Amino acid sequence: MEQDLNRIIPSNNIPPDIDGVFNKVKMFSQLMTMYNCAIREVQTKFEVLNDDLSVRNRRNPIEMIKTRIKSPQSIAEKLQRRGLDVTYDSIVNNLNDVAGVRIICAFVDDIYAVAEMFLRQDDITLVEIKDYIKNPKPNGYRSYHMIIDVPVFFADRKQMMRVEVQFRTIAMDFWASLEHQIKYKKSIESPDKIFAELKECADTIAETDLKMMSIREKIIFTES
Ligand code: GTP
Ligand code: MG
Repeated sequence: MEQDLNRIIPSNNIPPDIDGVFNKVKMFSQLMTMYNCAIREVQTKFEVLNDDLSVRNRRNPIEMIKTRIKSPQSIAEKLQRRGLDVTYDSIVNNLNDVAGVRIICAFVDDIYAVAEMFLRQDDITLVEIKDYIKNPKPNGYRSYHMIIDVPVFFADRKQMMRVEVQFRTIAMDFWASLEHQIKYKKSIESPDKIFAELKECADTIAETDLKMMSIREKIIFTES
């Protein structure tokens, strides 16, 4: 059993191009390492912004940073779903979200402020912005999405790496996590009702986010 877990290829079916197979595995694993490095670069940039702003304003605009790398399974499924090859080049050229960074802010205006400061950095190339806060999805989903390229300096070269950055408030993140869980549950009774309730929650959350911002303004205004 233990031997089976360690076995990469079936012992009775060694492919003739075994070197090629191992080479591909190595290249894929190097690519994932590169995406991981890009995540770290982006994460550090946001940590620096947060530290600087917390000294200036005595308040942290970023509550939390979450990162994730897309699993090999999800990479293959997404490419296949779109009728694309599952190859090294296809991953690099067609997928924008292998590397993902999520920036969770307390307040909506912090999202726009932090995003703008990040984009002003001269080594960041903006590829695409989708503002689902100003234009929520029909299901109520809100977030500010950005696809960017960031340079990563490796031993022998500089390489631009693609990263998806999602900005949300704490409340939007709470909503999206629950919605994501429910979407993949197959056995929901009356799903239409659930999704209508979720939409209602999303709208309430958006309203609350705005109210929280105006309360914060009042606190700042009354602070000496
Ligand atoms: P994907 O193929 O899913 O990456 O979508 P896209 O290329 O059209 O990009 P989009 O900006 O719409 O969505 C990118 C990511 O945002 C998704 O992979 C999710 O992480 C998140 N997202 C988008 N829409 C929803 C939604 O309705 N609910 C939740 N929970 N997350 C969403
Ligand atoms: Mg995605």
